[in-house]
Amino acid sequence: MDSPPFNFYLSLCFHVVGLCYGKGLLPADSMVGEVSHNVTFTIVNPPSTPFRVVAWTTNGTNVITSGGSGADDIGTGYVGRITLNSTTGSLELRNLVLSDTGEYVVTILAVGQPKEGTATLRVYAPVSKMTITANNIDLVEFNSSVSLSCSSSGTSLSYRWLNGSSEFTASDGVQLDDGNSTLTIVRVTRYDQGPFWCIVSNPINSDNESITLTISYGPENITLKVTPLDVLYGSGSDLTLSCSSESSPPAQFQWALNGELLSNQGPVLRLEKIQANQSGRYSCWAHNTRTLRYQTSEPSDITVLERISSAKLTISPNPPIIEGGSVTLTCDASGSISNRDWRKDGQPLSPSERIIFSEDNKTVSISPLNLTDSGIFLCHLANLLSNENASYNLTVNLKGSTQGGPNVGAIVGGSLGAVAVVAVTAIGVVAAMKKGCFKKITSGGSTVSNTGESSTNGGGKGGNQELNYADITQFQKRDGGSVQLGNLGISSTEYATVRVNNRPGQPT
Ligand SMILES: *[C@@H]1O[C@H](CO)[C@@H](O)[C@H](O)[C@H]1NC(C)=O
Ligand SMILES: *[C@@H]1O[C@H](CO)[C@@H](O)[C@H](O)[C@H]1NC(C)=O
Ligand SMILES: *[C@@H]1O[C@H](CO)[C@@H](O)[C@H](O)[C@H]1NC(C)=O
Ligand SMILES: *[C@@H]1O[C@H](CO)[C@@H](O)[C@H](O)[C@H]1NC(C)=O
Ligand SMILES: *[C@@H]1O[C@H](CO)[C@@H](O)[C@H](O)[C@H]1NC(C)=O
Ligand SMILES: *[C@@H]1O[C@H](CO)[C@@H](O)[C@H](O)[C@H]1NC(C)=O
Ligand SMILES: *[C@@H]1O[C@H](CO)[C@@H](O)[C@H](O)[C@H]1NC(C)=O
Ligand SMILES: *[C@@H]1O[C@H](CO)[C@@H](O)[C@H](O)[C@H]1NC(C)=O
Ligand SMILES: *[C@@H]1O[C@H](CO)[C@@H](O)[C@H](O)[C@H]1NC(C)=O
Ligand SMILES: *[C@@H]1O[C@H](CO)[C@@H](O)[C@H](O)[C@H]1NC(C)=O
Ligand SMILES: *[C@@H]1O[C@H](CO)[C@@H](O)[C@H](O)[C@H]1NC(C)=O
Ligand SMILES: *[C@@H]1O[C@H](CO)[C@@H](O)[C@H](O)[C@H]1NC(C)=O
Repeated sequence: MDSPPFNFYLSLCFHVVGLCYGKGLLPADSMVGEVSHNVTFTIVNPPSTPFRVVAWTTNGTNVITSGGSGADDIGTGYVGRITLNSTTGSLELRNLVLSDTGEYVVTILAVGQPKEGTATLRVYAPVSKMTITANNIDLVEFNSSVSLSCSSSGTSLSYRWLNGSSEFTASDGVQLDDGNSTLTIVRVTRYDQGPFWCIVSNPINSDNESITLTISYGPENITLKVTPLDVLYGSGSDLTLSCSSESSPPAQFQWALNGELLSNQGPVLRLEKIQANQSGRYSCWAHNTRTLRYQTSEPSDITVLERISSAKLTISPNPPIIEGGSVTLTCDASGSISNRDWRKDGQPLSPSERIIFSEDNKTVSISPLNLTDSGIFLCHLANLLSNENASYNLTVNLKGSTQGGPNVGAIVGGSLGAVAVVAVTAIGVVAAMKKGCFKKITSGGSTVSNTGESSTNGGGKGGNQELNYADITQFQKRDGGSVQLGNLGISSTEYATVRVNNRPGQPT
């Protein structure tokens, strides 16, 4: 309730003085208050006391009118909330509420002209209880969009977003809505994980929060690495295959051989003491359980060769082999055989009408047999790591002659290379034994490793079957005649196998 004297002086000021209107008494023309806090409108350079009237209004309604006649007139809603300093005319307003916002005017009437001051008070609720929520947390690269909502209590809030430390740049994929409180990323990529900062502010204070997104992607760029890396591996080698990929969450790996999944899982596949039958095309599959994508690596071809060993040349049927009949020579060994070729008496053996090679050269069938087919058959087996020879002394007997000669499997080998070996019976041998040229070899079998280390193979199996090589240039035939040996092999030195503990007539 305005007191008549105040209104009188006020209208006087308006209409008569006019010029006295101003901010003069209040230095801050704009003030900020916080809900529940206090604010003081401080009057600088107040007129000299005593004041006759001090009047405060907001939006034109009375806050307090002091002086004049009677007690202070305090406006509704201000009782207990205000204190007027009677010496300066300053006003403290306590326990602010939002609706205290308004234009505050003070009029002081002392000696002389009335003085006025004006200030605008804005009351805000502070920024607090800030949160960021995402409408989707299981994000898949290129497949998901996400809206981040920033919320806070408080009034007159303004929102800003930062991507890491940089301000958002408006782009096709980014949208700001709801007064910038909502950020939408339309198609997330793996680079959009953030942290995204929301900064909320008003004139009272500001607060910030961040959110980090988890974006699943991949698997991509599957890399298969083989250590050691080689063109081919000897059997028994240890290999490690490792697979990696760009994926989030990390991919799960499964291994495949020749396109078929193996039971092996995990990023590392260890192949220990690898065998030839493990050769093939290895690849790894990467699977991301969140993106549900599968991706395979480039395949890696692993070729494992087993060294050739225990080469053996056998014949069928068993001797005696009769002229006009047929024989099949079979050349075999353990190991990975990639190539076989045949020689007879040191010369390459070629297929003909009578001499049939199997497709893999494993067998040679001769039919019908001719006496001239007698001789030393040699089969050479090779792969990229090793090679070995096996030979057989074939004797074709005259039709009607049941007397089968001995059929001593000859062994070819040693560091000398291909050496033609002539098996002879002890009877009638005229061998010029060359000192130092004896070689002890394995049992009477027809093969031995060609590693040149026959001593390691010569275990002395069956003492009655020991054979030795002797240099021979000629030998006596069974019938007493002497045979001049031609140059049977590549080597200039020819060896014969000499049976020490002879059991003549017995094929071994
Ligand atoms: C406001 O003033 C009252 C009285 O002086 C005081 O008790 C209170 O703590 C003040 N409030 C704030 C927020 O300063
Ligand atoms: C009024 O304000 C003056 C100057 O700020 C101060 O010294 C004085 O104590 C105040 N008086 C009251 C009653 O608060
Ligand atoms: C003053 O007027 C403004 C605008 O109409 C209103 O928002 C505010 O609450 C008023 N303040 C008071 C104290 O009446
Ligand atoms: C939203 O932010 C942009 C800048 O990124 C600004 O230009 C705009 O005024 C803001 N809008 C609101 C409502 O705050
Ligand atoms: C956030 O910043 C990173 C790094 O600069 C950028 O790659 C990515 O695209 C940005 N994300 C958005 C949604 O702007
Ligand atoms: C975020 O708030 C902290 C205090 O809570 C402040 O130190 C920091 O500067 C703010 N960051 C930004 C970007 O506003
Ligand atoms: C990863 O894959 C992507 C596409 O799949 C390709 O653009 C990028 O060059 C690859 N990175 C590497 C290091 O190979
Ligand atoms: C591969 O060969 C090894 C012997 O070399 C054998 O033990 C194994 O059973 C073979 N595995 C398969 C799948 O044939
Ligand atoms: C990707 O989006 C397509 C189509 O919107 C949907 O069919 C597919 O399930 C989504 N993939 C993932 C992993 O969410
Ligand atoms: C079979 O032997 C011939 C020579 O007689 C040779 O050219 C060919 O490569 C051999 N084939 C195989 C599979 O060893
Ligand atoms: C054996 O071969 C020789 C020489 O090639 C030939 O003259 C002879 O007729 C053949 N004998 C038989 C029985 O085929
Ligand atoms: C092969 O056998 C024939 C007949 O049995 C024999 O005369 C010849 O000496 C043998 N050759 C070798 C090298 O053993």
